[in-house]
Amino acid sequence: MRSPDCLAATGATKVRADFPLTRVPPMSSLVRTVLQDGIVLIIVENPPVNALSVGVPDGIMAALAEGAADPQVGGFVLLGGGRTFIAGADIREFGKPRPPGAKTIFDLIAALEASPKPVVAAIHGTALGGGLEVALACHWRVGVKGSQYGLPEVKLGILPGAGGTQRLPRLIGLEPAARLIVSGEFVPAEKALALGIVDQLAEGEPADAGAAFARQVVAEDRPLRRIRDMADKLAVPDGLFEELRRSIARSGRGQVAPWRCIDCVEAAATLPFDQGLRRERELFEECLASPQSKALRHFFFAEREAAKIPDVPKDTPVTPVRKAAVIGAGTMGGGIAMSFANAGIPVTLVETAAEALDRGIGTIRANYARTVASGRLPQAAMDRAMAQLSGTLDLAAIADADIVVEAVFEDMAVKKDLFRRIDGIAKAGAMLATNTSTLDVDEIAAATGRPEKVIGTHFFSPANVMKLLEVVRGAKTDRPTIASTMALARPLKKVAVLVGVCDGFVGNRMLAGYMQQALFLLEEGALPQDVDRAIQDFGFAMGPFAMMDLAGNDVEWRIRKHREKTNPPPSNRRRSRLPDLICEQGRFGQKTRAGWYRYEPGDRTPHPDPAIEALIVENSRADGIVRREIGAAEIVQRCLLPLINEGAKILDEGLALRPGDIDVIWVYGYGFPAYKGGPMFHADQLGLPEVLAQLLRLEGEQGSFWTPSPLLVRLAEAGRGFSSLKAG
Ligand code: 3HC
Repeated sequence: MRSPDCLAATGATKVRADFPLTRVPPMSSLVRTVLQDGIVLIIVENPPVNALSVGVPDGIMAALAEGAADPQVGGFVLLGGGRTFIAGADIREFGKPRPPGAKTIFDLIAALEASPKPVVAAIHGTALGGGLEVALACHWRVGVKGSQYGLPEVKLGILPGAGGTQRLPRLIGLEPAARLIVSGEFVPAEKALALGIVDQLAEGEPADAGAAFARQVVAEDRPLRRIRDMADKLAVPDGLFEELRRSIARSGRGQVAPWRCIDCVEAAATLPFDQGLRRERELFEECLASPQSKALRHFFFAEREAAKIPDVPKDTPVTPVRKAAVIGAGTMGGGIAMSFANAGIPVTLVETAAEALDRGIGTIRANYARTVASGRLPQAAMDRAMAQLSGTLDLAAIADADIVVEAVFEDMAVKKDLFRRIDGIAKAGAMLATNTSTLDVDEIAAATGRPEKVIGTHFFSPANVMKLLEVVRGAKTDRPTIASTMALARPLKKVAVLVGVCDGFVGNRMLAGYMQQALFLLEEGALPQDVDRAIQDFGFAMGPFAMMDLAGNDVEWRIRKHREKTNPPPSNRRRSRLPDLICEQGRFGQKTRAGWYRYEPGDRTPHPDPAIEALIVENSRADGIVRREIGAAEIVQRCLLPLINEGAKILDEGLALRPGDIDVIWVYGYGFPAYKGGPMFHADQLGLPEVLAQLLRLEGEQGSFWTPSPLLVRLAEAGRGFSSLKAG
């Protein structure tokens, strides 16, 4: 427990290494202490984020107990070693048995609050979840500049279960506390100070700031400030809970945890503290045991796992992107350029005609201006982003870019010609990226003399908003290019998933079967609104027809027509005429105020359209199909099974590294509900034998579209799930 060198991490000074904490058992190497002028610094050393793993509560409690009994100790400072304060309970330990006798976060919180000597939390990095709850059990909190605060449990399908829902409202008031708890959002240090989460905002090292604060408290003999005893901020603003419930009925559709968060905050307002704590604990346990929390925890780790590439080790050299070029100022190119500009990376947008360039930059400016007008972006931030952006008609301007992203029309000949020219201009070592969503990255790479630098960066539309980035590894792409492109996701605020080259890559390849079934359902008896409702009720952000209307039906129409010339599908394959029929009528979607739905001017709400119903019914009649009632369960099954089956084929072919990567793609790219974990996790929950049985039944009824993937058969027969597969 006596290791002055730990202060190197926190930067504290004036170390006395002879503090005799000999009675503290060395039960936890995760916590260290140092005495500094009568104050014990209790330092959690559990990298990378100082989660409250087994052993951490024991170590802190032992230090508190010994310090309490020692007359030379006046008080304590609790802090984190390394890069952060405590980032919460250890999520990996949820649902696992604890070693007998190990202290819990609940024991720790009770001990901190009951400490007879002052405890000050000194916070840098992030104080999240159980970490913030621990800080709230301390008597005061000092934050350093740059620190962040939040109770993000709701994003894991749970609620703050260690007193957060009872203490935070008492400290900062019901309304701000409820909003933080229900949204799971983080607040920066300055706002935390304004809200009263921290008592002081300090410059410099947390150990120094915390110790100075603690010494002052001791010198003044200040009465201990226990949040549990506060009651002056518990008045309920009129209609607060009704309004919160109304708003989560929309934003938290289908989810349980946000409702339970509100229930807990309401309990803080209506029940005595200890009863409120009991209620919180009950609801926490209920949420923790729920399938939604299991799915969201899977998703939390899947997202982080996706960044790890087995054959691209952590020490692979990474080129930081200091300058970018985007070729093509259309919708995708513009959105990609905005992503760079938002990250503070200077970006040059290249076009071939002045008119297209002006239009592209004008659209970007209008996009920012709309966000400023809505109050979601300060004007200064728009000005900063626009200052990063320049436009040119001269391809030579890409010469000093660290990455060149091509985002021109999906035409192989055009792209190959462009890459040949890029190759002649781009500097050595630059990443040459194509934003193709359908074309063969290897063929594009072969047009250059440096195929090892060519990579796919498949952004999703709108590229400045959507979090997903499919990074497409070509056969010759080298490791530094992969590592650098994956690393670029962080400043761009994207989540990158590495995929292999195939038609549609992972996301769109899976989407094809999903869309096909949605269309067949229309032919057999459903209407767009029936399919969309069933898929939305399952939890998707949007149904397939509303999604097509948003993306523009003409986009796929053009691609289909191009493909029919270059790579026609087999003539005996069932194919719906409906999407062509609606495009032939000019029904391109929201932009023409008519697609699968009709739209009122200036309004994106889809309205069922009798003209579409007539078109669909007539199409079935012409094909001799007798229309029938199709229920929501069948719709969901028909749309989801192709996702699972195609996902299994993709894994079998090694085009995605892990089932979790596919889940990340579908949640961030296509609005699959995170609280169901993604299609592959969902399949495991259904049980692969059940999935297999459903596929075989449909194969018997409808043919080879449904033939199960060999991997799925092998896993189901072995009684295994996708989660049992290892990466690579
Ligand atoms: N438990 C276990 N592991 C955790 C963790 C946690 N609470 N938080 C992060 N990690 C792990 C990650 O899995 C990752 O592991 P890896 O290196 O093996 O992939 C590593 O720590 C680093 O995490 P990130 O890659 O996310 O690092 P960042 O620097 O980008 O972000 C962070 C750091 C902001 C702390 C982010 O990790 C985060 O948001 N963590 C979750 C915080 C959270 O949800 N806390 C609440 C937990 S639930 C709780 O406290 C219940 C209580 O109310 C009773």
